[in-house]
Amino acid sequence: MDAIKSVFEAKKAEGRPALVTFITAGYPRGHDTVPILLAMEAGGADIIEVGIPFSDPIADGPVIQESNNIALKNEIDYTVVLEQIKEARGRGLTAPVLLMGYYNPILAYGEDRAIEEARAAGANGFIMVDLPPEEAGNFRQKCAHARLSYVPLVAPSTSLHRIEFLASIADTFLYVVSKMGTTGSSIHGSMNSALPQLISRIREYTTLPLAVGFGVATRAHFDVAMDAGADGVVVGSRLVSVIKESPAGEIPQAVERYCCELSLKGQNPRVRLRSASPLLTSPSSSTLCNGNYQPSSSTSLPRRFGEFGGQYVPESIFDSMNQLEAAHRAIIDDPAFWNEFESLSGFMNRPSKLFFAENLTKHANGAKIWFKREDLNHTGSHNINNAVAQILLARRLGKRRIIAETGAGQHGVATASVCARFGMECVIYMGAEDARRQSQNVLRMKILGAKVITVESGSQRLKDAVNEAMRDCVTNLSTTYFLVGSCFGPHPFPTMVRDYQRVIGREIKSQMKNAEGKLPDVIVACVGGGSNAIGAFYDFIPDKSVRLVGVEGGGEGLDGNRHSAPLSKGEPGVLHGVRTYLLQSETGQISETHTIGAGLNYPVVSPEHAWLKDSGRAEYVVATDEEALRGFRLCSQLEGIIPALESSHAIWEGIRLAKTLPKESNLVICLSGRGDKDVEHVSELLLGKWADRLQWHI
Ligand SMILES: Cc1ncc(COP(=O)(O)O)c(C=O)c1O
Repeated sequence: MDAIKSVFEAKKAEGRPALVTFITAGYPRGHDTVPILLAMEAGGADIIEVGIPFSDPIADGPVIQESNNIALKNEIDYTVVLEQIKEARGRGLTAPVLLMGYYNPILAYGEDRAIEEARAAGANGFIMVDLPPEEAGNFRQKCAHARLSYVPLVAPSTSLHRIEFLASIADTFLYVVSKMGTTGSSIHGSMNSALPQLISRIREYTTLPLAVGFGVATRAHFDVAMDAGADGVVVGSRLVSVIKESPAGEIPQAVERYCCELSLKGQNPRVRLRSASPLLTSPSSSTLCNGNYQPSSSTSLPRRFGEFGGQYVPESIFDSMNQLEAAHRAIIDDPAFWNEFESLSGFMNRPSKLFFAENLTKHANGAKIWFKREDLNHTGSHNINNAVAQILLARRLGKRRIIAETGAGQHGVATASVCARFGMECVIYMGAEDARRQSQNVLRMKILGAKVITVESGSQRLKDAVNEAMRDCVTNLSTTYFLVGSCFGPHPFPTMVRDYQRVIGREIKSQMKNAEGKLPDVIVACVGGGSNAIGAFYDFIPDKSVRLVGVEGGGEGLDGNRHSAPLSKGEPGVLHGVRTYLLQSETGQISETHTIGAGLNYPVVSPEHAWLKDSGRAEYVVATDEEALRGFRLCSQLEGIIPALESSHAIWEGIRLAKTLPKESNLVICLSGRGDKDVEHVSELLLGKWADRLQWHI
């Protein structure tokens, strides 16, 4: 901490800002990092940020994303990063070093160990992109105890109330994100023209140094930030590009040259035009203090389900999550909103029927099997319930541009339909692999007027589509509404989507009462992000006689890693803004998933399911690809209903369970979607190994 403070004091005395440089550890090769750190210092860097590689850097643009991927291929994990810092210290590096990155690798390493070993290696603090102070309670305390700095970020979207809070907890300096969006800069780009106002706004609340980052690529940018009043200027993406562009043997020289260009080391550069720190004595308003911040629109919905949930988001979108919660709270008991929702039942085709699956019941020769026919909804799945409710909410928030992620394409089609119905601009992010598998749905979205952006990064599946949608959201926050498709993401999304899907379980309850005069005995639903399952389960949670069974994508089985079953095989962690079970490596990198059901192909699951699992209220099992295909075939050929491959997982498990239950019991399967979208994919599969394996030649 003290070393960082000393740097800012010395630079202040010189009348110049500190140069803060960034590099992803292990990029482009593991052994490049130490020479790069030394070259930075030789070129005039005053503070150095070392990026801890992460598989899903949602706040970063393409340049830093690529450097993360390459570093991970070079097998750079937290231990290696610390070894590099230690080695650099041994070779004479004196500049303070901040570890910068995302929370999950630190969580996987263990907070205490991560902090203690960082201190021992010679690091001076942390900048955690997705660990806002509200979620960092223990982490901050432990850092303070180890005399390591925890540096808060402030964004253009940060409210005054929150700036006051962030300033009150900063121990060395504040990192000012100069523009909305992800990291990235161009030598031809310009700095945010509103930077002086942003800095003045923050100055109202603190005398601490302010370091400006995002978008700085040249000395001219550096000067703009300096003249706007910055005490430090951070250069990241451009440095990574300089490294990328330089020949392998000349990287340190190129880095030193570029840092010299920025620092004008040895050239006696001009000092700032205006004073950096007006040095206000105390904040102008005093609504808080000592770090006990209450968001201005204080949350009243629980942020957590047991230990799961939360809001692990970049600073740029933190306040907007509270606004979203306030909007959701305002509509949840508002009859006018629900009347409007119901006025669209003709559009959605609700209520969906509860259908007695007589032939499957005979086949199982056990419990009576019922289908909750979400497959008959408009657009062919449960997704329309959530899409309609959220588009009404987006209208209330005055948003005109809607973005969404999609895996199987069903949420994309539902979103494109409601956007067409309400005249909104619609952009859908879809992994390239999913788009290939679900080409019909891509066409449907386009016919409905949506722009479909295929995502080529990572595994080219739902996780990567969510990453890109989050980056879009951070960049276009003021105009854009992120219509999240399942119960993932930061609070309040998991609660909101559950509240909008709850109609499924509510209808099952009254329809089963009418049909059988009692509650069902078992409800079975497939689990991807978890929305159709939580929608079906939620109203039955207090009814302890009702067994709740969620079925994850077992892929090729749980023995290897070719599955998509975070509840069955994952560990608690943080991704996409939420703490929940997720599939990850030992070092906290997010695993690739596999299942035949594109909509189940996601390494993260609803925090509410995580809590239902740990509390024992619900059971979670898997169906493998083979079992899902068998369920698909049975349902198609015995009931004359082609189910979605996702729902086929629940069908298989439902039949299996029904066989074990008495004839007077009732088992409801949530038939979350229809299989039209899967017909082509199944026909391709039946040209391959599956035809013989299933003895199914069509
Ligand atoms: C038909 C169908 N069922 C289930 C799912 C899984 O999503 P969730 O777990 O949110 O219900 C999807 C996802 O797209 C889907 O299309």
